[in-house]
Amino acid sequence: MRTSFTANNISPSMTLSIGEKAKKLKKEGIDIISFAQGEPDFNTPEAIKQAGIKAIEDNFTRYTATSGIKELKEAISLKLKNENGIEYSPEEIVVSTGAKQVIYNTLLSLCGSGDEVIIPTPCWVSYTEQVKMVGAKPILVETLEAKNFVPEPHAIAEKITPKTKAIILSTPNNPTGAVYGKDVLKEIAELAVKNQIFIIADEVYEKLIYDSEKHISIAGINEKIKELTVTINGWSKAYAMTGWRLGYAAGPVDIIEAIDKLQGHITGNPNSISQKAGLYALLYNEDYNLMIPEYNRRRKYIVDKLNSLNGINCRIPKGAFYVFPNVKGLYGKKVGNKIINSSMDVATFLLDEAHVAVVPGEAFAAEGYIRLSYVTPIEDIKRALNQIEKALKKLDNV
Ligand SMILES: Cc1ncc(COP(=O)(O)O)c(C=O)c1O
Repeated sequence: MRTSFTANNISPSMTLSIGEKAKKLKKEGIDIISFAQGEPDFNTPEAIKQAGIKAIEDNFTRYTATSGIKELKEAISLKLKNENGIEYSPEEIVVSTGAKQVIYNTLLSLCGSGDEVIIPTPCWVSYTEQVKMVGAKPILVETLEAKNFVPEPHAIAEKITPKTKAIILSTPNNPTGAVYGKDVLKEIAELAVKNQIFIIADEVYEKLIYDSEKHISIAGINEKIKELTVTINGWSKAYAMTGWRLGYAAGPVDIIEAIDKLQGHITGNPNSISQKAGLYALLYNEDYNLMIPEYNRRRKYIVDKLNSLNGINCRIPKGAFYVFPNVKGLYGKKVGNKIINSSMDVATFLLDEAHVAVVPGEAFAAEGYIRLSYVTPIEDIKRALNQIEKALKKLDNV
């Protein structure tokens, strides 16, 4: 074998590969509408782009401190205090090349061979693979549709062993759109404190939240849980800045120093230009407020339409920009010689027959569901759902 055990032990990112397949079909001239991607269709707001351009013109193009420039860490510190009610000094913050990278660096700082990391499922594809990449073992805890995909603390408690090192939480959640309330976070915090387990709190969808729902940061619950929590956030989703690759972690100083040390040998500092753009976004930009009503309009439309289709059942998600319908009602139905028996079959059927790309639940350790993102203009959403409706009519009962 030419490639390493780690490389061979990892599955490729299914969301990326499905997006790629849809793009390939598009190139071949097939009009594919994609609900597979996880990035805003909005452009980066103009003023943020200008801050990036200014950074280049000012020749702010050299290495910076590995953990990011001081002004940016100060702005993050202020944001966390004002919006999340958590006091982090700039020394307790490290800025990285996207939230994805800083989650990896956090795992690398905390975990190694023999450690276990609890992950509530359905979960974002990269958590399990990153845990494996650092030599630790992902321990999956199922959350239930009937409980709105909010983790049940007793189910987490049952999975805790002396090897448990960390729990990864994602709220608002990708892929389910679940938003975890204060009560459940308090209970999880108690479990973590009692067993001295770290929490990696992925809050990248924090600003994408609907129906007067409120985002709660677990680190803000009390000092004891703050000592065990690394809070992760970034600019990709809230500010439509996926390509700029900027994210951060805030946590206890010993962990942040460890991340900084590792990062110094992996990527070094995050992009200097992105840091200036990210600083502007935090200090001055509120354009995400303009995106939310549009996402909300799409969310309502897509959920209503999906629920009008036979065999599909969709809860209304409270956050992020995904819907996660149950498609088990389509199982046992037939198209040509093929009987649908999995969410991968549903996704393949929708791509082939409706020319709509979705991500099968298997990608999130959640067979029986598909994920559709609504980062697509409403006209395309309407057209795609009409195509799905038509395609479903082709299915026969076996
Ligand atoms: C739950 C979750 N965390 C982190 C990320 C990564 O974000 P970034 O673009 O900042 O690396 C994503 C992106 O899809 C995500 O869905």
